Amino acid sequence: MTRRKLIAGNWKMHGRRADLAWAANLTGLLGAAPRSDILVCPPATLLPLMSERLPDFVATGGQDCAAELEGAHTGDISPLMLADMGARYVITGHSERRHGHGESDAVVRAKTMAALNAGLTPVVCVGETLDQRRSGEAETVVLRQMLASVPEAAAGRVIIAYEPVWAIGTGMHASPEDAEAMHRAIRNAWRDGDGEQVRILYGGSVKPSNAADFLSRQEIDGALVGGASLDAESFASIIRAAG
Ligand code: 13P
Repeated sequence: MTRRKLIAGNWKMHGRRADLAWAANLTGLLGAAPRSDILVCPPATLLPLMSERLPDFVATGGQDCAAELEGAHTGDISPLMLADMGARYVITGHSERRHGHGESDAVVRAKTMAALNAGLTPVVCVGETLDQRRSGEAETVVLRQMLASVPEAAAGRVIIAYEPVWAIGTGMHASPEDAEAMHRAIRNAWRDGDGEQVRILYGGSVKPSNAADFLSRQEIDGALVGGASLDAESFASIIRAAG
């Protein structure tokens, strides 16, 4: 089974107009379309401007979305609005949303469903904390999150990102072996359709220096890159590491 790799950048709450030169820089560095799918998720304020500046082979996405398509939800952004601004993907259930904003699996599931209803491909994040890994609960926690966050009927249409919470923005990363084992466990637990077809990304301190270690693994279908995606040169080098 060959699954196409996806290299995704999550800019988090970084980026203003002046940073849009990134789009031309990345395009120049890549030259022609690479073999992998490429995605960048800038802050929502830059989404339309970024979408306009990138070639077709670099998709854009949101970092979060509302659980509804429309309504009285001050400050929220509908997945339909993201799609309207050129987004093709949206991240749901990032640990900074789960932990920083108290989002439960049920909320993540509702957002993921709304994203699908808006025609977006959700990138659903799951991951254990350091305490959970140390106490041997990592797999149980991640599988529980995955099963409760992915809407059943839609399981074949989502991408999963395994991001151990302790590896995000810390410079510490899971070993490629541990990441592979977790990806395998997720595939085995997949309940709707064929787990072999699901694309599972690894995220957490992916850098140009370690990208090839992850991306050369059979079980790892790509990377969700935070800090290193802000710099076009390092993001391009991670994309090259995917082959
Ligand atoms: P870092 O690559 O900065 O560790 O962030 C990972 C992440 O959270 C991507 O969504």
